[in-house]
Amino acid sequence: MAHSDREVADVIQEVLLDEQAIAARVAELAERITADYAEIDDLVLVGVLKGAFIFMADLTRRFKVAHHVDFIALSSYNSGTESTGAVRLIMDTRTSVTGRNVLIVEDILDTGHTLDYLLRTFSARQPRSLRTCVLLSKPARLQVKVPVDYLGFEIPDKWVVGYGLDFADKYRTLPFIGALKPEVYQ
Ligand code: IMP
Ligand code: MG
Repeated sequence: MAHSDREVADVIQEVLLDEQAIAARVAELAERITADYAEIDDLVLVGVLKGAFIFMADLTRRFKVAHHVDFIALSSYNSGTESTGAVRLIMDTRTSVTGRNVLIVEDILDTGHTLDYLLRTFSARQPRSLRTCVLLSKPARLQVKVPVDYLGFEIPDKWVVGYGLDFADKYRTLPFIGALKPEVYQ
């Protein structure tokens, strides 16, 4: 869904990362991952829906290694912007990850509960390797320590939207990552 300039101006407090900054960082991440997996022929990217769909699309198109693309969908029992810590699997991957090299692609690390759940779920399936690629991290909010192998940006403790990230399923398709005005979500 497109948003009018007027609507964007009404809800966005500040643009934290513009299109160019995101594209440059995604290219760097893709280059590092390509180098790290150069010798590996069985890489499976697992994107976490819905938030990671744009990041995943941009990242995967910049890879220069053969790989498979798959998705999972989770629900984290949010009440507005507060995560309760309870995570539920809504849709699983189509392919089996056992014995394969898995890279989880997630939009944002907030409390860490979601990535922690994913890592526990996927390790139990005995992949050959398991790593994580996360576009954004809010260190001030972290409650569970989780390993992030590839990180895009650290951001302040603000609710951000755009580039796949939403607030109440809105603003996902904004080309930049912007902080919402607190009055929109508080
Ligand atoms: P965690 O389990 O608290 O780390 O939360 C991770 C999930 O919460 C992410 O995958 C997002 O779906 C959502 N989330 C956390 N912070 C934001 C934000 O600032 N904007 C949009 N979604 C967010
Ligand atoms: Mg998410």
